[in-house]
Amino acid sequence: MKITVLSGAGISAESGIKTFRDSDGLWENYNVMDVASIEGWYKNPDLVQQFYNERRKQLESVEPNKAHKILAELERDFEVEIVTQNVDNLHERAGSTKVIHLHGELTKARSVKNSERIYELGYREIRKGEKAEDGGLLRPHIVWFGEAVPLIEKAAEIVSQAETLIVIGTSLNVYPAAGLLEYAAGSAAIYLIDPAEVKYVGSRRITFIKEKASDGMEKMKQYLYEATGKC
Ligand code: OAD
Repeated sequence: MKITVLSGAGISAESGIKTFRDSDGLWENYNVMDVASIEGWYKNPDLVQQFYNERRKQLESVEPNKAHKILAELERDFEVEIVTQNVDNLHERAGSTKVIHLHGELTKARSVKNSERIYELGYREIRKGEKAEDGGLLRPHIVWFGEAVPLIEKAAEIVSQAETLIVIGTSLNVYPAAGLLEYAAGSAAIYLIDPAEVKYVGSRRITFIKEKASDGMEKMKQYLYEATGKC
């Protein structure tokens, strides 16, 4: 069975990474347009670098949680592909092998002159004024508001192939990612795992599992094995 997962910040909440729009979320303390938009970068690149340097440093100290681990384990018996809005690397660290990052990756940097010139940073910071080999400033490899989402077509293709689509830990506020649900085949079963009420404005029939990511994935796993007769 082909399972596609669309994940958002909520899947990493139990690892200790703040979500964006919850009451104690990142956008409570930062103006999103200051630190996560292309205009913000032009206005104050140092502030933007500092924001992502801090996120990257924090990432080193957290671990994948049970939800990430269950998704990785499911690869043993199912074809699992993950489309994540998250810029952390917790899916990969849990062992998932097919992950695409719609909004970029914290552990990478790229030249402002050439978006294809991408560098592995690991968890280190981008230093003030640090440049790529082409002379362009290094910037976080993040898709900011006001920028195109280069992987959206690939993501839509992956979603369209799913027999089961699991949406987990996203408020579905940000497009085009939120619109991906509409690409699911008519025959696909769609589940949404989130402890809070998520406002879905599309047309698909969704089974809501009102649980935290770890408990929700535990239930989902049990269901998938029962439904397919695998053990
Ligand atoms: P949000 O912060 O908008 O939504 C997080 C969702 O996770 C909410 O629906 C919460 O109820 C849910 N949640 C909280 N704790 C949870 C838990 N333990 N288990 C499961 N779910 C939980 O985050 P995203 O939807 O991922 O983009 O945000 C989308 C994009 O907006 C991000 O990729 C980021 C942001 O601005 C950029 O910065 C470009």
